[in-house]
Amino acid sequence: METEIITAKELSRAAQIIREGGIVAFPTETVYGLGANALNPSAVEKIFLAKGRPQDNPLIVHLARLEDVFPLVTEVPSVFFELADRFMPGPLTVVLKKSVAVPSVVVANGSTVGIRFPSHPVARAFISECRCPIAAPSANTSTHVSPTTVQHVLDDLDGKIPMIIEGGSSDVGIESTVLDLTSEIPTILRPGAVTAEMLLQVFGRVDSCSVAIKVAKAPGMKYKHYAPRATAVLSPSLEAALELYDKKRAEGANPVLLCPEEKAHGRNCIDIGESGEQIAHNIYAALRSAETIYDFIIILKPSEEGIGNAVMNRLSKSTANE
Ligand code: TXA
Ligand code: MG
Repeated sequence: METEIITAKELSRAAQIIREGGIVAFPTETVYGLGANALNPSAVEKIFLAKGRPQDNPLIVHLARLEDVFPLVTEVPSVFFELADRFMPGPLTVVLKKSVAVPSVVVANGSTVGIRFPSHPVARAFISECRCPIAAPSANTSTHVSPTTVQHVLDDLDGKIPMIIEGGSSDVGIESTVLDLTSEIPTILRPGAVTAEMLLQVFGRVDSCSVAIKVAKAPGMKYKHYAPRATAVLSPSLEAALELYDKKRAEGANPVLLCPEEKAHGRNCIDIGESGEQIAHNIYAALRSAETIYDFIIILKPSEEGIGNAVMNRLSKSTANE
């Protein structure tokens, strides 16, 4: 299959594919998604096939308008509207009890559904044009690093999907916060740009399910994830990072540092910036480019303040086997 890249001016062609039961990759402010009509089980199955995704990992359903949530869930708690006021559209997914309208393949046979309203204008226009809810995971091969550009999507899925919609480089750069609203205390199943501190403006208490794996509340979290195809390690300090780099070099390896350029002192480096926001924006592109050139990736551990917590969540998975 030929994979075609289109611009936002040609969205009606993308919507046509979705209406005919096909799949299309599209930009969002977090990462690129691979979408299908959420109400068409055989279309949704094509997503799992193209990604090589395990069937027991549920998909997030993407909507353009708030009112479109009603048919998909059995009840909308009032706090949903408070969250919507502050964070929607944006990088927040809420887990609610699903209605019979949502096919079981979308939610991996579960009783809940993740709902997200992306803020990227092309995503919103695409979903509106489709006139159906769009089930979509990140548009990467399962377990690989999530895509933040069209080129990343092509690198993983060229020839496996009919179309990618161009939308520039994803602003946020890491996947949405997943917040479970079906538990007594709202629980963060996956940290993201909407942080626990921000959610505490709405709730008196928010729990974090950092070891979601144990209870498999967000089944996706139990899999090896976000993994580059070269060995990657996290280094706690610049000193340790430089030392490890020099050691690897002396052993004949081809290492690279992921840190601000000036800190590398002339060593091979991919600059991922300094602030949590910059690092979130750059990290996946950096891992993808590092894996094609180098054989050993040394990441300087970022601060865990704010979005840094979510970045560290992904990095600890990218480097899980070391
Ligand atoms: O930013 C994002 O969320 C991106 C863009 C494309 O919207 N999507 C994304 O989807 O990251 P995916 O499939 O790569 O990750 C979805 C995560 C998985 O860990 C999955 O287990 C969890 O959300 N999830 C989805 N539905 C759920 C549900 N009903 N209950 C608990 N966890 C759920
Ligand atoms: Mg993913």
